[in-house]
Amino acid sequence: MGFAPDFLDEIRNRLPVSEIVGRKVRLVRKGREHLGLCPFHNEKTPSFTVNDDKGFYHCFGCGAHGDVINFVLETEGLSFPETIERLAGQAGLQLPEYSPEDRQKSKVKKTLFDLMEAVTHWFESQLAAKIGEQGRTYIQKRGLTNETVRKFRLGFAPNSKMALKEAMLARSEFSEEMLIEAGMLIKPDDGGESYDRFRDRIMFPITDRQGRVIAFGGRALSSNAKAKYLNSPETPLFHKGRLLYNLSGARKAAFEKGRLIIAEGYMDVIAISQAGFPEAVAPLGTAVTEDQIREMWRLAPEPLMCFDGDKAGQRAAIRVVDRSLGLLKPGYSLKFVYLPDGEDPDSFVAGYGQRAFEDLLSKGVPLANVLWSELIGGVDVDTPEQRAGLEQKIARILSEIKDTKIRGYYESDFQKRLKNLFGGEFVPDINLHEQNQYTQSKENHSGQVAKNTYRKRSYDRYEQRESIGNLNKTEIGKNALLSVKDRERLIVLTVIEHPWLLEHHEELFATFEFESLELDKTRNEIIRIASRDSDLEKENLRHQLIENGLGQVVETISRQGVLTAQKFVGQDSSEEETEETWLHSMDLFRLEKLEMEIAALGSKDLNEEDFARLQALLEEQSASKKNISDILGKDT
Ligand code: UTP
Ligand code: MN
Repeated sequence: MGFAPDFLDEIRNRLPVSEIVGRKVRLVRKGREHLGLCPFHNEKTPSFTVNDDKGFYHCFGCGAHGDVINFVLETEGLSFPETIERLAGQAGLQLPEYSPEDRQKSKVKKTLFDLMEAVTHWFESQLAAKIGEQGRTYIQKRGLTNETVRKFRLGFAPNSKMALKEAMLARSEFSEEMLIEAGMLIKPDDGGESYDRFRDRIMFPITDRQGRVIAFGGRALSSNAKAKYLNSPETPLFHKGRLLYNLSGARKAAFEKGRLIIAEGYMDVIAISQAGFPEAVAPLGTAVTEDQIREMWRLAPEPLMCFDGDKAGQRAAIRVVDRSLGLLKPGYSLKFVYLPDGEDPDSFVAGYGQRAFEDLLSKGVPLANVLWSELIGGVDVDTPEQRAGLEQKIARILSEIKDTKIRGYYESDFQKRLKNLFGGEFVPDINLHEQNQYTQSKENHSGQVAKNTYRKRSYDRYEQRESIGNLNKTEIGKNALLSVKDRERLIVLTVIEHPWLLEHHEELFATFEFESLELDKTRNEIIRIASRDSDLEKENLRHQLIENGLGQVVETISRQGVLTAQKFVGQDSSEEETEETWLHSMDLFRLEKLEMEIAALGSKDLNEEDFARLQALLEEQSASKKNISDILGKDT
């Protein structure tokens, strides 16, 4: 349904952009323009301008650009007609009458939309009815709440070839042809009778950008079904490659959080949405398309693509990287989040919880790093020919980046990385498994991971990042995989499990600088308890902590799988091993903080005081390193 261009212009003429934008963004007048913080990306200094004379807004930071209509479309989550309707009201304009052809066109479409709506409603009613019992049981087993079922309008298709068909045809407004056209009935080629496409399945309505149902995905209840998921075919309403599942549901949250999560499946989107991540979408049972990538960028500048951490997941990620190179534009990219082997976002939030998922998301790997590690993976660079070969390959791949600015940055960044790679002591820059702190079984990768965690922080400070010995050979190597918070927790948990450590190391533990206030408090309490009881037993310590109101903390850290999987925390390693590893952890942690501080100092112009501080830090660093490599040298 189209609006006449004149009518749209009339809206633009009547409504100053600053007035509409000003309702969402604090604007300050500056000459002919207004200036404010861009609502389309995160920024601290304003680069978002509004020009009423020219009738548009423009952000010099992220390139967002448009007129009043674009602004409302992009920030309110309304459909185009809804947007126009609202703005027309604000401009004091009457909505125009449509031409007869317009009305005819929109009527045909509308009836297919109506049909899909009626079908959705019917599937919902089947799920609620007696016949839907199995479906309800299944949904319950998958941990979905009634609210979630309502929100995503989940339904049930009974195990019958005629149930939907009969229910719909009983209503005179829908014909068999329409049901076939909408993909709800299958018409056999041999001219036989048409029948229900979806049978004995949980139904997931797929909506268009405006939230209207245009297709379905159906998950088989029976494990014998030929396809676990069956999707609607392409129809006049439904084009798989252009749409994302839950696009309309995710838009508002994505816009507010400035973040978009891409999962692989319907169930993933629903499960993580329920777990507090409504900004989630998924492709529709196919690989991600270019259109879909563009669509994602309308919602967030760096969509987080979740993939399984296994080989297949990595291959899928690489395909997305390949596909996106030609599309990259300033300010827009992708990040890659790798889940532990065999987990999908659904099982991950179920197993590890919301915080852990949030943590995982925060470790999204930038596209450049994924591309780099793919390019150098398994490549030998021992001979000049091999090096030239790699260089050529890199140049070829980077030439696929169409945006010249971005290509330039990629080229110089990869040049730097290459130089380091050829420099000899290089270790691959990132390892995808680095993220998989939740999996403890990646022995063969942990070596690189430990060093890489060190290298990761900044590329331009390589000089200070020579690797510190064979960290990988010890439990500490694995520790380096954990987040700061988890490592702090680990240090505390080890003491809770092995209070005897305090006999010799009370001072060390008492002076350790925790970033987490909660852990700092817990540590103080442990020290207090220990000072009164020289022969502290584990059960006793735990009991006293709980009595003193720290039960919650103790319980949280004791329950965390990633921590308890650390061998030295449990009972099955020797006291020496436990002691040594615990001490190493703290040393390593200190060293890392030192290095960060050094790096921070190193990147600014130093005054005298800074310089003295840097000297002191460097000395401390070298002592600390020596200490660590001494200990490590012993057992390698
Ligand atoms: P998965 O096999 O990973 O399933 O397929 P899932 O999403 O984890 O589902 P559950 O947890 O077993 O219920 C991921 C996506 O691939 C598409 C669907 O879109 C699915 O959500 N798919 C999968 C199909 O289209 N057909 C299939 O037979 C299987
Ligand atoms: Mn799943």
